[in-house]
Amino acid sequence: MDPINIFEYERCAQEKLPREQYDFIVGGATDEITIRRTREIWDSILLRPRMLEDVSKIDITTTVLGMQMRTPIMIDPAGDHARAHFLAESATAKAAAAEGLLMFVSSAARLTLEQIAEAASGPKVFQQYLYRDPELSLEFANRATEAGYSAICITVDSKVKPKRERNIRNKYVSVSPPNYDGIKLKPYSWNFSPDAPAGLNDIRDPGATWEHLDWFVKSTPLPVVLKGIMTAEDAILAVQHGASGIIVSNHGGRQLDTTYSTIEVLPEIVDAVNDGCEVYIDGGIRRGSDVVKALALGARAVLIGRPVFWGLAVNGEEGVRDVVRILVEELEMTMAMCGKSKLADLKRDMLGWGSPLERILDNP
Ligand SMILES: Cc1cc2nc3c(=O)[nH]c(=O)nc-3n(C[C@H](O)[C@H](O)[C@H](O)COP(=O)(O)O)c2cc1C
Repeated sequence: MDPINIFEYERCAQEKLPREQYDFIVGGATDEITIRRTREIWDSILLRPRMLEDVSKIDITTTVLGMQMRTPIMIDPAGDHARAHFLAESATAKAAAAEGLLMFVSSAARLTLEQIAEAASGPKVFQQYLYRDPELSLEFANRATEAGYSAICITVDSKVKPKRERNIRNKYVSVSPPNYDGIKLKPYSWNFSPDAPAGLNDIRDPGATWEHLDWFVKSTPLPVVLKGIMTAEDAILAVQHGASGIIVSNHGGRQLDTTYSTIEVLPEIVDAVNDGCEVYIDGGIRRGSDVVKALALGARAVLIGRPVFWGLAVNGEEGVRDVVRILVEELEMTMAMCGKSKLADLKRDMLGWGSPLERILDNP
């Protein structure tokens, strides 16, 4: 089968990948309630198309952190792309550069951040954590600055290890990411699944606070994006503590289960931030119409995580490019049919929730 949408890409990838790799990528924390809820909510948001607008030209260009972008779609940071293709992040980086996408590079990549920078010259953001050893936090930021990365993304929802039951069942073991080579790891101390290299979770600082972030923001010349914000309260703190951008994310349902889906909390976060920094969103984005809904609710851009693995598994660099092209085509088509020719036209009034009949028939 030649996949024609992201769901078909997932099915083709599932056929190609060893069971434990597919499970690692697709899975989430405990009961995976957030993952199921996420698609339900995207599908429940409805479009209110407008007619007789000039849609002869659709413009989906935008800026992210001042960088000119061809599309409002970006690549999420995700560890070890070699899970899906032997060329790993070098294939992803080439695809991102060719399609004009900003790539967030995970500290848990299969290649070093320098190797990924060399693989393709497109714009990149380096994703890391706040570590117990502040020297390590800075060392990564400095290496990324040196290698030409445009920003640092600090993932704030992963201070402690999640319980991913598929991985426990499969006795899944990750490969140690080369970015951490030479760093002395403390012995592994959690009882949950062995799905991260021994000790890697231990070097993240469970005691990290907003004050640590203040120190980090002051210590790096690059703009800092926070990934994993799910409440208006934290969004306000993020702005106050110097974030240039936030990613509304629940880590694809892989950390804390039974959270809201990200699109549900996006509007309150956008309102709270009040243009204090840029707001992006990820989680379950599989259709161009999802991108339209996210932007209409105030996101500046979206990120995709698992679809990148599906593209890689099916056809390497070309597979990732195809995944992106499918989303871009669907995005442009949805905008045109909604009567919108540019991203700034995507506003809340183009969305609906529940049946209009409810309002009418409940109040006859
Ligand atoms: C296999 C896999 C590995 C991931 N590794 C990381 C990571 O290293 N750092 C991080 O911040 N997020 C990581 N994530 C989370 C993604 O960045 C993202 O939040 C999530 O996948 C978005 O949802 P989506 O997959 O439904 O698009 C990972 C996700 C997957 C599927």
